[in-house]
Amino acid sequence: MRIDIITIFPEMFEGPFSESIIKRAQQKQLVEINLYQLRDFTNDKHKKVDDYAFSGGAGMVMMIEPIVKCIESLTSERIYDDIIYMCPDGELLDQKMANTYSLKHNLIILCGHYKGIDERIREHFITKEISIGNYVLSGGELAAAVFADSIIRLIPRVLGDETSALSDSFQNNMVSPPVYTRPRDFRGWQVPDILLSGNEKLIEDWKYEQSLKRTLERKPELLDDKDI
Ligand code: ADE
Repeated sequence: MRIDIITIFPEMFEGPFSESIIKRAQQKQLVEINLYQLRDFTNDKHKKVDDYAFSGGAGMVMMIEPIVKCIESLTSERIYDDIIYMCPDGELLDQKMANTYSLKHNLIILCGHYKGIDERIREHFITKEISIGNYVLSGGELAAAVFADSIIRLIPRVLGDETSALSDSFQNNMVSPPVYTRPRDFRGWQVPDILLSGNEKLIEDWKYEQSLKRTLERKPELLDDKDI
């Protein structure tokens, strides 16, 4: 998979993309992430990429020209599955969407700032708008990192068997069961006997029951969504 991210703050991605699973996915060449500095696509001598909104009002708007130049330089090289804009009014990211996007080949992700981007970019270039939650972030970068992480870890062979995404919370419309590690007894707090029984069938049943119980208690809405 190839993910091309358009941003005015490429350094914001250094942390999330240079550690752990996402780092290894890149090393294994299962994903290629490219960061494009939007300011490189303006002719303005001050590298300005925002301007005042017509009709006034507080806040700057990201200009159409640099964004279109950047997008068109990418789309002239290859076909993209989607040109995504991260924004608070986009479709809410969930596990089902992450599963769908983990199967794509080429994605562009545009990160907005200030009061947003000139609406004509959304009308004429953006094919998908994604929000990571009903709150407003300072920009699209953190949202893009969250979205990219959620899809990269699902690419086949990114996770090993032992960390398989199949056992993730939400993957079968249920949250994960509780987990324990050594010691068996900490201050008298015991690991449930059944997990030490060695009886695989009983352990599987216990995990399923715990998942179901937790889902009912904490996220009952997941059980209504049959087609994750
Ligand atoms: N940009 C600002 N807030 C956002 C959000 N909640 N999701 C996606 N992009 C954003």
